[in-house]
Order: sequence, then structure tokens, then C-alpha cells
Amino acid sequence: MPDGSEGDVLLQVDDLVKYYPVRRGVVFKRTVGQVRAVDGVSLTLRRGQTLGLVGESGSGKSTLAKLLVGVEAPTSGRILVEGVDVSGMKRAERRRLRRTIQLIFQDPYTSLNPRMSVGEIVGEAFAIHPDAAPKGARTKAVRELLDLVGLNPDHLNRYPHQFSGGQRQRIGIARALAVKPRILICDEPVSALDVSIQGQVINLLEKLQDELGLAYLFIAHDLSVVRHIADQVAVMYLGRTAETGTDVQVFEQTRHPYSRALMSAVPLPDPTLRDTRRPIVLEGEVPSPAAPPSGCRFHTRCWLAPIVAGREGGDGTGVPSVCSTVQPELEQQEASGHLAACHFAADVTSEAVGHD
Ligand SMILES: Nc1ncnc2c1ncn2[C@@H]1O[C@H](COP(=O)(O)OP(=O)(O)O)[C@@H](O)[C@H]1O
Ligand code: SF4
Ligand SMILES: [Mg+2]
Repeated sequence: MPDGSEGDVLLQVDDLVKYYPVRRGVVFKRTVGQVRAVDGVSLTLRRGQTLGLVGESGSGKSTLAKLLVGVEAPTSGRILVEGVDVSGMKRAERRRLRRTIQLIFQDPYTSLNPRMSVGEIVGEAFAIHPDAAPKGARTKAVRELLDLVGLNPDHLNRYPHQFSGGQRQRIGIARALAVKPRILICDEPVSALDVSIQGQVINLLEKLQDELGLAYLFIAHDLSVVRHIADQVAVMYLGRTAETGTDVQVFEQTRHPYSRALMSAVPLPDPTLRDTRRPIVLEGEVPSPAAPPSGCRFHTRCWLAPIVAGREGGDGTGVPSVCSTVQPELEQQEASGHLAACHFAADVTSEAVGHD
């Protein structure tokens, strides 16, 4: 598997920001604030690579996905697709380039038009991007796509309700593949499916990656799925990246207290580690991204901050002053490519919390 330092960069995101206005009022809708859904995210995706994106609900993962496929426009920041800045492009150019990145939705039950046949759903992409398949060959192309995702090509005249959840997700994948993308953004693609079906869809995605050389941004709640599929991992908290690195770096050499808490809930393959590792329970809800905490956004829930404050003195609330006043930037850890945004990243060793 690629280790992140090699291969061609397909997608590069620099300091991406998306704020949604908060509006109040019945007669006049006044803007009274901003939801900082994505607030300075950078990432790199290379050919054939899978970047797993994790974080609690509300951390900005779906917003990031929407920015990448152009459903939403960023407030600021840059998106480079194969080295070309998308924001400076004309519409037609942008649409051509956008073909490169396709989205697979979370919910296979609502993302397919119930009044369209499978053939129409998958073939619709050819109407938007006519050069993806020549006019006379479109039915043949649809049949090929259905076969590629493990569906019976003879079922192209059936409707979505005639398929199971897993089969519908395959239809969604076939639709995304119709325009020959290089990158698939998979926004929790299996979380609406039965556990028994999830594995089949994951296997299909892995097979397609091998056969077609696709790169994936794979968003998931379930960390064991990410552990299985991702080469690189990014952990998001309240619109920002808390930690990023290879799967081994983030899962085993964890350097951010937030990721450490998420990881502690994942079953470990190594039973000796499993026995000595204590789960860290995250207290409280994720704060509102309309009013994120000062300094480090995680300081209101961080389990490490009180430990450090006990040692070094704090701001009177059991949190080191630097945590409540200074926003930590992503910084290089020991190994190359491993970045964490915590003033006390060096204290997040497995010894510090992982063992009783
Ligand atoms: N169109 C929108 N208008 C206002 N707020 C939004 C909009 N879309 C998402 N948000 C807010 O942005 C934050 C991040 O949401 P989202 O990207 O869906 O997170 P995730 O996918 O990680 O659960 C949430 O607080 C959500 O309520
Ligand atoms: S900077 Fe402080 S509050 Fe933020 S994660 Fe690190 S220790 Fe916790
Ligand atoms: Mg989401």
C-alpha cells in the first residue's frame, strides 16, 4: 500500500473554509452569526490511495465532501484537482474537471429517484457528460457498469424499489463510475446498511480500487471499517483537523487526545494490548460550530488538559491557559507525515492513559 509519500497527487485541499450564515427574523432575515462547518482543512489524496475521514457527527465531514464535489462553494481556501485550482475556472471547464470527483451518498434509499429505471439512473450521467459514452453505445455502457458493480445487466429496466439496500448502493456506485472518475468521495457509504451487507459493499469498493486505480476519500463513523480500508487517516473535530497520518500512525501512535478517545473504543486485534487499554469516555456533546470554544476547540472535553493543568498549573478551570487561549496548529510528530494539533501531543502516549 502507498505510504503517503509516493504517487501522484490527484487532489489537494489548502486551508478550506465553509461558513454558513445563521439567519433570524420573520420579516427580515438578518444574519446573526456563522456556522463554521469547515474551518481550515488541508489534505492530500494520491492516486490509488484511500484517505479515511473520521469524527463525530457535526464535525464537518459531509460539508467537506460537498465542497470537494462542487455542490457547495467554499468561503475561502483552495481545491486543486490534478494540480489545477478549481475556484478560478469557468463553469464548463469546472464541470469537465468535476467529472474527476464523484460522490457516493450515505443513504441508498433516498439518493435514487424512485421514478427512474436503473438504466436511466446510471445513464443520466451521459446526458450531462455526453462524451463519457457515445450515443449509440450508452445502453451497452450501462450494462457494463451494472456488471462491474456485481448487478445483473438484464435488470436495467427495473426500478429502485425492486432492489435491496446493498444493491441500491451498488447502483449508486455504478452511477458515480459512469463518468470515469479518478476519485470517489464515499460519505458513510455503508452506515445505512445491515452489517452483513456492509462487508460486501466494502469488498466491492476495494475490488474497484484495484481494477480502476481509484482514490477514495472514505468518510465513516465506524473506525474499524476505516482501519480496514484506509491507508491514510484524518480525524476531524468541529471543522478542523485534529490529527492526520498513515493508518498505523493515527491508530497505533496516536498523538491527539480526541483521536485517542475515539480509538480507545475500537476493538484491538492484539489481545495483549486489548487487556491493558482503558477506554476513554468523551464527556458531553460536541459544542456548536456557531460558537466554537476559544483556543483549542477540544478544550471543553479534553481528558488530557486537566492532567496537564494538575502538573503545570491552569487557567483556574482545570485547563492549561495555553489550551483555552491559543489555537493549536497541525504540527509534525516524530515520523514523517504524522501531524497533530495539540499543545501537549507528546503527552498522548499509550502509557499516559492507555494502561491502568
Ligand atoms: N446548509 C447548512 N446550513 C447551516 N448549517 C449547516 C448546513 N450544512 C451543515 N451545517 C452545519 O455544519 C456542521 C457540520 O455538518 P456536517 O458537515 O453535516 O457534519 P458531519 O457530516 O461531520 O456530521 C453542523 O453543525 C451542521 O448543522
Ligand atoms: S491543546 Fe490542550 S485542550 Fe487541546 S487537545 Fe491538546 S491538551 Fe487537549
Ligand atoms: Mg455527515
